[in-house]
Amino acid sequence: SLPWSIDQHTIDINVMGFAAASQCIFKLMCEQGYGQLAAINSIAGQRGGPNMAYHASKAFAANYLQGLSMHAQRLKLPITITDIQLGLFDKAVHLRTQLLLSPIDNVAGQILTALKKGKRRVYVTKRWRIVAWINRLLPEYIYNTRHWKPKKKGG
Ligand SMILES: NC(=O)c1ccc[n+]([C@@H]2O[C@H](COP(=O)([O-])OP(=O)(O)OC[C@H]3O[C@@H](n4cnc5c(N)ncnc54)[C@H](OP(=O)(O)O)[C@@H]3O)[C@@H](O)[C@H]2O)c1
Repeated sequence: SLPWSIDQHTIDINVMGFAAASQCIFKLMCEQGYGQLAAINSIAGQRGGPNMAYHASKAFAANYLQGLSMHAQRLKLPITITDIQLGLFDKAVHLRTQLLLSPIDNVAGQILTALKKGKRRVYVTKRWRIVAWINRLLPEYIYNTRHWKPKKKGG
């Protein structure tokens, strides 16, 4: 089943809340004439997924941040918008893959380095960039079926 209340909750927080907070912060930065917005986002937004509202909300965030960055550019203000594309760490824990899991210090270190460099977008940790890239490139018939398992009968 797909209960609407779960999607609505995600949209309320990750879309409505995110946009309202970002707008508010951006306005404050415009008033003070400079600033940097560090937005924790997810590579889940690269493509749709079974957790529809979550994936879509992360795509919304990436798109919104891009727009804010363009806005700052046009206003000729030194405002940096950094989209921090985190890997799917919970999923990596679940899959028990050390390859995609990194110590929290590495995660924090890579975020800080990117912020100091004023990056527009950063993948944390770096190897998740490859996962994001593959996810984007996979043809629909593979992307949509690779986790497919036949349902057990009965039980
Ligand atoms: N965990 C991962 O593997 C992963 C991967 C990629 C990206 N991310 C991103 O990282 C961010 C945090 O994820 P997480 O896994 O750390 O999630 P989490 O453990 O569930 O933490 C969510 C945080 O958001 C706060 N929050 C939720 N609803 C709120 C509301 N209505 N108003 C104010 N605060 C609210 C919670 O506050 P309370 O503690 O007070 O409830 C909590 O501090 C998210 O943007 C997520 O997309 C996480």
